[in-house]
Amino acid sequence: MSDLSTLLEKAAALAPEAEVVTGAKLRKVTLPGGAGVLGLITLDNGLDHTRPNTFGFGGLQALNAAIDAALADDEVTALGVTGKPFILAAGADLSGIAAGGADGVRLIAELGHAVFRRLGEGGKPSFGFINGLALGGGLEVGLHCTYRTVMDSAPALGLPEVMLGLVPGWGGAWLLPNLIGADRAVTVMIENPLNNGKVINGAQAYELGIADAVFSGADYLEQSMLWAADVLNGTVKVDRPEVDRGEAWDAAVARAQGIVAARTGGASPAAARAVELLAAARTATRDEGFAAEDEALQAMSQTPELIASLYAFDLVQKRAKRPAGAPDRALARPVTKVGIVGAGLMASQMALLFLRRLQVPVVLTDLDQERADKGVGYVHAEIDKLLAKGRINQDKANRFKALVSGAVGEGDKDTHPFADADFVIEAVFEEMSVKKSVFAGVEKVVSPTCVLATNTSSLSITEMAADLEHPERVVGFHFFNPVAVMPLLEIVKGEQTDDATLATAFATGKGLKKTTILCKDSPSFIVNRLLGRFMGEVGRIVDAGTPIQVADASFGGVAPMPPFMLLSLVGPAIALHNNETLHRAFPERFYVSPALERVVAAKKGSYYAPDLSIDPEVEALLEKPENPVVLSKEEVREQVLSGLAEEAQLMLDEGVVAAPEDLDLAMITGAGFSFWNGGLTMLLDASGIAEKVNGKRFH
Ligand SMILES: NC(=O)c1ccc[n+]([C@@H]2O[C@H](COP(=O)([O-])OP(=O)(O)OC[C@H]3O[C@@H](n4cnc5c(N)ncnc54)[C@H](O)[C@@H]3O)[C@@H](O)[C@H]2O)c1
Repeated sequence: MSDLSTLLEKAAALAPEAEVVTGAKLRKVTLPGGAGVLGLITLDNGLDHTRPNTFGFGGLQALNAAIDAALADDEVTALGVTGKPFILAAGADLSGIAAGGADGVRLIAELGHAVFRRLGEGGKPSFGFINGLALGGGLEVGLHCTYRTVMDSAPALGLPEVMLGLVPGWGGAWLLPNLIGADRAVTVMIENPLNNGKVINGAQAYELGIADAVFSGADYLEQSMLWAADVLNGTVKVDRPEVDRGEAWDAAVARAQGIVAARTGGASPAAARAVELLAAARTATRDEGFAAEDEALQAMSQTPELIASLYAFDLVQKRAKRPAGAPDRALARPVTKVGIVGAGLMASQMALLFLRRLQVPVVLTDLDQERADKGVGYVHAEIDKLLAKGRINQDKANRFKALVSGAVGEGDKDTHPFADADFVIEAVFEEMSVKKSVFAGVEKVVSPTCVLATNTSSLSITEMAADLEHPERVVGFHFFNPVAVMPLLEIVKGEQTDDATLATAFATGKGLKKTTILCKDSPSFIVNRLLGRFMGEVGRIVDAGTPIQVADASFGGVAPMPPFMLLSLVGPAIALHNNETLHRAFPERFYVSPALERVVAAKKGSYYAPDLSIDPEVEALLEKPENPVVLSKEEVREQVLSGLAEEAQLMLDEGVVAAPEDLDLAMITGAGFSFWNGGLTMLLDASGIAEKVNGKRFH
């Protein structure tokens, strides 16, 4: 490793002009009780909380200069690092990483280590005040400090690098297991990132031992500094449990290997490397640990997984915020009251989301008062849960409850509960005739500009609107179950949908904090069409003789869970319905499995028994071909991905979405496909399957 001044010189030459530099402002704070003077460094990129602090070359230089000044000032007896409101830092500046190539990655890895470690090794005690979001390098900057406090409501803490095809490379892979033990470190740096990038909050970080103290409320920083004073003058002694370096470390590594095998099927070199770093951290010195992280990051910079991850990251950061093809936002009409027809599974979840995000009156209607009340009851119970967890206060809970109501939905233009709604969405049974009659009824009582949205998973928006007086105000608004968890919202334009309606749909989706993607009115839209093809191909292969277990073991690292597990989660009946819809539209490509039909007829909810063997009753319903064709895992994977390559290309040719980027964004946010595959099309390119099937790559 080069020395710090050489690294800084090289960094100055490589720093991209476009970097939004996170500044590091030093101020001196006299601590009470004669505890001395704290040199408090505040990280701030000068932008609001929607643009988090990050560390590029410039940001690291700024932090280094602030540390220099604090260490050189004899009056300063201890250092503190905190962030701008709600945010410590979101880690490395990934656009800078992408630009610098392998050398740039190596340099920024070494520089980060060299700067951060001065916090822990500079000769003065240091305090990380984790006042908000702290991901990757944001958490690592705190880990280098001698002590840490955390704000209990800090929303997102973690080391998510593995999800991006990277490893925690600014000290995290060595420091974390040596601070909280290997098993807990596995949860934070392996298990959570591979669980769709799960993060923890401040209170959980404290429980795990990442911070030595936890404080809440607006005076978090003041309390933290008082605590720091007590630590410095000896009133508070920080005791951390001894880290178990015996068998527990081996067990943790074995657990990590199991998780990586199950979630990635060996498809993520970064995950495997992170486990190696964690295993080595048991005996490696700090220098060895950090050097191994530098090596790992440099190696990662060359992998297709990192390229795909950076592409995926860009999609969810940028494309998701500026959906391709969305009309001018200025055309959107305000939404001040929402009507929801149907008070079932989806409608009740939608009601909760509309309430929480838009904070406007929401009325649920259903066939009878009892069903409507059940929907409202669900919303009330969920509000109570949020209150119990401290996510909302009593005032908010009361206000939300007062805003939601349930009715049968009778009345005229003056008396109907939807009369003054400007956005009505239906989530009734998935039948065209039912949906048409629902919209015909709603149209009689709402204003001509009220948006009529449908949560249909597969039916034609154009046909649903055809007999209405104002078909131009009908739009598809397709949520995924569970509504609160799945980020994707497909917005479907019918043939007659006008721009004002579409703009209102996009603005509403944004208000609901969903990732919106514009989609042409076509069977099953985006995610369900691709998943339908996926499940259809898998079903065809299993019906021909390949065991379910082989099929289920074929997609590690591609799909978020094995296909028959997914089928059980979605529900065999819903999956069958989707496949039937697609088969009607494209009979030559979409397979309807007779075995699946029998499973649905027998009302089986899952293929698996509780002990994860195949349910014997389901086994009895499977096809028993005379001449079974048994494929290997590799063959299953190749065949199914080939089907997906064909389907994805056809969807682009038909104009279902604007570009392959939208297919990928949809599969990541609507089906949990991995970042390191770039969703889907990057994987199809990298594996050569796109070229083989379509004669060309997607990118
Ligand atoms: N379940 C899912 O995972 C999922 C995901 C995305 C989209 N969807 C779509 O959402 C819609 C609803 O699905 P769900 O799973 O919530 O169904 P559900 O059966 O739980 O709820 C449907 C509700 O609609 C009510 N209803 C039926 N006809 C009505 C009418 N004429 N007027 C008023 N209410 C009526 C029913 O009484 C029932 O309460 C469907 O179009 C479905 O395709 C479902």
